[in-house]
Order: sequence, then structure tokens, then C-alpha cells
Amino acid sequence: MINLKSEEEVSRMRAACVAAARVLRDLSALVVPGVSTAALDSAARGLMLRHGCESACYGYVVGGLTYPGHICVSVNDEVVHGIGAPQRIIQEGDLVSLDVVVRRDGYIGDNACTIAVGKVDPEAKALCTAAEKALHAGIAAVRPGNRVGDISAAVQGILAPLGYGIVRDFVGHGVGKKMHEEPQIPNFGKAGTGSKLLAGMCLAIEPMVNLGTHKIVMGADGWTARTADGKVSAHFEHTILVTETGAEILTLP
Ligand code: MF3
Ligand code: CO
Repeated sequence: MINLKSEEEVSRMRAACVAAARVLRDLSALVVPGVSTAALDSAARGLMLRHGCESACYGYVVGGLTYPGHICVSVNDEVVHGIGAPQRIIQEGDLVSLDVVVRRDGYIGDNACTIAVGKVDPEAKALCTAAEKALHAGIAAVRPGNRVGDISAAVQGILAPLGYGIVRDFVGHGVGKKMHEEPQIPNFGKAGTGSKLLAGMCLAIEPMVNLGTHKIVMGADGWTARTADGKVSAHFEHTILVTETGAEILTLP
């Protein structure tokens, strides 16, 4: 069952998502050469306090493993769920994906973006541009009566013709009191298939796309997913509300 949010719940979702967006915005400004990914994690913790929310990632358990960070910070060939580390120093030319998931007043806001640090390889930059464009194409496919597959096909329609590897092992998702609710929202699929979208659904749409192969490998920490070929990856995400006429992006600062 995909749950529909009441007006009351929608207003809580809005507040959580605005907080998530403000944390992501403020944190993005700190991504400069010389900063460690651990410093970004602890800055995020402070920003969450300032914006009246807490990390939904910290302490999150998947398959018996507890996530130790407050955000996910994934550099270059890291696809998602990278954990901040003091020895991991950001350098000019890096692609840094920040994934900020917060809880406020019992509800979750989830958003992510990839930042190109200084002068980056044009191919890497183009990947980021396409990933963000794909996110917005996915959002544009949201309206009551459309289906999850319409979102998937719209995202794929931007990325596949460019020859990029669309990550299959991680997908977008419904969001609410829990970080991951139904439905799953793959970044590939057939228009007209899957669950029907209804006003009141809250969805996290999040294309993850690789310059090379779509295949990923898991790191020894049990969390960090990286590309199997070592090429770079990009990730953009918004939480949206299905409205009577389309989509409202909730994760705006
Ligand atoms: N946006 C990511 C997701 O939906 C956040 C994961 S947080 C973690 O999977 F705790 F699982 F790392
Ligand atoms: Co998400």
C-alpha cells in the first residue's frame, strides 16, 4: 500500500523537506578543496541542529549494519552511501555527491546533489548536468493518473541515449514517516506500467548515473557503493508531493 498524506501530514512533510533542502544548500557551500569528508559530516550535524531537524541516516540499520554517518558523502567513483572519513580530502576536480536525509516532527525530507569541485573534467560535468536534467524530467512525469513507470521512463529517456550507465541496484522511493516507503521508483522502466500515482503521495526521485558501466561494487565498510569500472558517478534527488495537477517539489530551501 502506498500511503496518501493528509493535509496535516503534508504540512509536516513540507517542514521536514525545507529543512533538508536548507541543510543541503548550506553544506554545499562547504565543499571546497582541502575539506575532509568527515568535516562535511560533522558540519552537517551542526546544520541540522540549526535548521531544527536531525539526521535520519545516523543509526539507520540495513541488514544488521548500522549507518555511522549523519549524511552520505560519495566522491568520484563512489555512487551512494559513502561515509565521511578524516583522511578523505576533497580536491579540485572531484565530483562530490551529498545525500541529506533528515527527520523533523516525525517526518522525513530526502534530497541529494552532486557538486563539481572547481575545474572538473568536461565529461564528468556533462554527467552531472544530465543527471539533474533527468531528475527534472522524472518530476515532470508526475501527475495523478500517471504511473511510476512514467517517471522511470522519463529519467531513462534522458540518460540512456547519452550512453551512461543507469544504476539499477538502488532506486527512488516513497517517503513519509519512514525514509523508505512504497513504491520503489527505478530510474529505468516502461511508461504506463507500475503503481498509479495519486494526489497526496510523497516520493523521492533520485537518478544515480555512471559515466561508464551501471554495475556497482560494495565497499568493505558494507555501505559505500562504487562503480565497478572506477569511472565517476552522479546523483540528484528531490522529495516531491503528487498534487491534483502535477508535482510540488518539497525539498526547496
Ligand atoms: N537517500 C539515501 C537512500 O534513500 C539515503 C540513505 S541513508 C543511509 O537510500 F543511512 F542508508 F545511508
Ligand atoms: Co532517497
